[in-house]
Amino acid sequence: VGYVGPESNGRALDVLVEGLARLEYRGYDSAGVALVADGEIAWRKKAGKLANLRAEIEARPLPPSTTGIGHTRWATHGGPTDENAHPHLGGEDDKVALIHNGIVENFHVLKTELLEQGVRFRSETDTEVVAQLLARAYAGVGDLTEAMRAVVNRLEGAFTLLAVHADLPGTVVAARRNSPLVIGLGDGENFLGSDVAAFIGHTKQAMEVDQDQIVTITKDTVEVMGFDGTPAQGKRFEVTWDAAQAEKGGHSSFMVKEILEQPAAINDTLLGRTDSTGALVLDEMRIDPARLAAVDKIVFVACGTAFYSGLTAKYAIERWTRLPCSVELAHEFRYCDPVVDEKTLVVSISQSGETMDTLMAVKHARELGALTISICNTHGATIPRESDAVLYTHAGPEIAVASTKAFTAQITACYVLGLYLAQLRGGTHAEQAQQVMRELHEVPAKVEDLLGRMDRVREIARFMADTRSVLFLGRHVGYPIALEGALKLKEIAYIHAEGFAAGELKHGPIALIEPGQPVFIVVPSPTTPYSLHDKVVSNIQEIRARGARTLVIAEEGDEAVVPFADEVISVPATSPLLAPLLTIVPLQVFAAELAAAKGLDVDQPRNLAKSVTVE
Ligand code: G6P
Repeated sequence: VGYVGPESNGRALDVLVEGLARLEYRGYDSAGVALVADGEIAWRKKAGKLANLRAEIEARPLPPSTTGIGHTRWATHGGPTDENAHPHLGGEDDKVALIHNGIVENFHVLKTELLEQGVRFRSETDTEVVAQLLARAYAGVGDLTEAMRAVVNRLEGAFTLLAVHADLPGTVVAARRNSPLVIGLGDGENFLGSDVAAFIGHTKQAMEVDQDQIVTITKDTVEVMGFDGTPAQGKRFEVTWDAAQAEKGGHSSFMVKEILEQPAAINDTLLGRTDSTGALVLDEMRIDPARLAAVDKIVFVACGTAFYSGLTAKYAIERWTRLPCSVELAHEFRYCDPVVDEKTLVVSISQSGETMDTLMAVKHARELGALTISICNTHGATIPRESDAVLYTHAGPEIAVASTKAFTAQITACYVLGLYLAQLRGGTHAEQAQQVMRELHEVPAKVEDLLGRMDRVREIARFMADTRSVLFLGRHVGYPIALEGALKLKEIAYIHAEGFAAGELKHGPIALIEPGQPVFIVVPSPTTPYSLHDKVVSNIQEIRARGARTLVIAEEGDEAVVPFADEVISVPATSPLLAPLLTIVPLQVFAAELAAAKGLDVDQPRNLAKSVTVE
């Protein structure tokens, strides 16, 4: 976060700390602030969560100031210690303060050069190298923007940098390459942030910063230029979230709140995407329909939860369009020499729109000539801007690190895209598309109904707080749901959890079953083709016979599972391909409740960050 405000209030510190609180989901290994006050840099920084920094500031207060920068960190170079926390100071007189997201890949070379010149370092970070370079450049040119320009042109890798100088009250200079940065435009004050959440409590007027640009803000001005020095114009936009949406609203955690927001997330993602006849309209993507219609295969690229939404979508989209779909982990896709050409549609899925692995996959796909569409939840984020087109999910701000409402919104958006492609392909595909859209519109009410009867799931979770291992089985669209259910439990409850395709059980995982082993089974709807339902019911019998404790997620009225289930968790009936939007819900609730029962921080699990902007 960066801020410059009027002389009258000197409240830079409050604005920065408030902004950091809203951005804390991006990283929380350490936090720090630096203010320009009385010709000096006043700073505090502390390992651990923002609360530690707040306590430090309370114990050793900072002076009033109009200008400052603040940072929460997710450690890459150098462990999460006080010394490695940002800001880092530069210059013999410590007059420069700098914060940084990303990784400077050539920092060893630069550090060696500075060490040879006698510079002494206090941290192990790549960031301190940049702070020292900036101080030296400023000493040479006497202009912070020009100094920043000189420095960024020597850096390789990914970075967002924000800097202040003790002699320049009223100015913050920033730069970005491959890492996010937005400007918040206030009245007599201006803001910088990794995303709009940083300043949403103060202004909804914002400006995008492009790749390889430098921004200089004062309280009344915003100047943007390229790394080559040519002046540039930022693109203004209005933020559609409000501050209340980014707060907990009385719930025990953001994750619990976000699980409950899924009916709205799905509904809002469907809104405005059909015309009065029920036909899908995606003009917002501004892609020539002929180009889309010519696509002969689809590749999804994503990481984490977003990857599982892609795996789910594959079943539906192949069925609706008869186009071959593959789903690749973005970091694997990028470096596996993928077979992609102009007729390939590469769909990236990312809640944040900033995941570096996914961004790199998209860039690579474009280099190979593919048509790229981003499914994203964050306006103005990098991935949609680097793609040919974007289809936004409208889940609203997702703050908890473990993704929930973004996941169901991603599946919804993928389905909308798949149905649109089916419609473009015409014939029976098109008729089917309208029918499925009608069914999709009924899903939010079903999710709402399901959320209203999760008491037993919460009870089971509390009862299982000491469990050391949980397995998840699923088949067809239930398979990615099993994987996502396991991921939720790993992420926030730190329990060993594995998801398997139910058909794979007999090929290995069944050896894990011993008396008392809890296993969730996501049972396909009895209407799923090829008797998949019956096959999974047989799997339940097989593991129960070996002592497993079976926790069965099945469609309402599915009596066939009852004799073999220790617990039946019923979900409302829907057509098989839409079921994932329902079957994931009890698994999310289960993970959140179990983590809370263990006394863990549900929203900010250890070692993770919401948005991983390094490769
Ligand atoms: C991180 C988060 C995951 C998330 C993944 C993809 O690993 O911890 O929860 O699913 O990134 O994030 P994205 O913003 O690209 O959807």
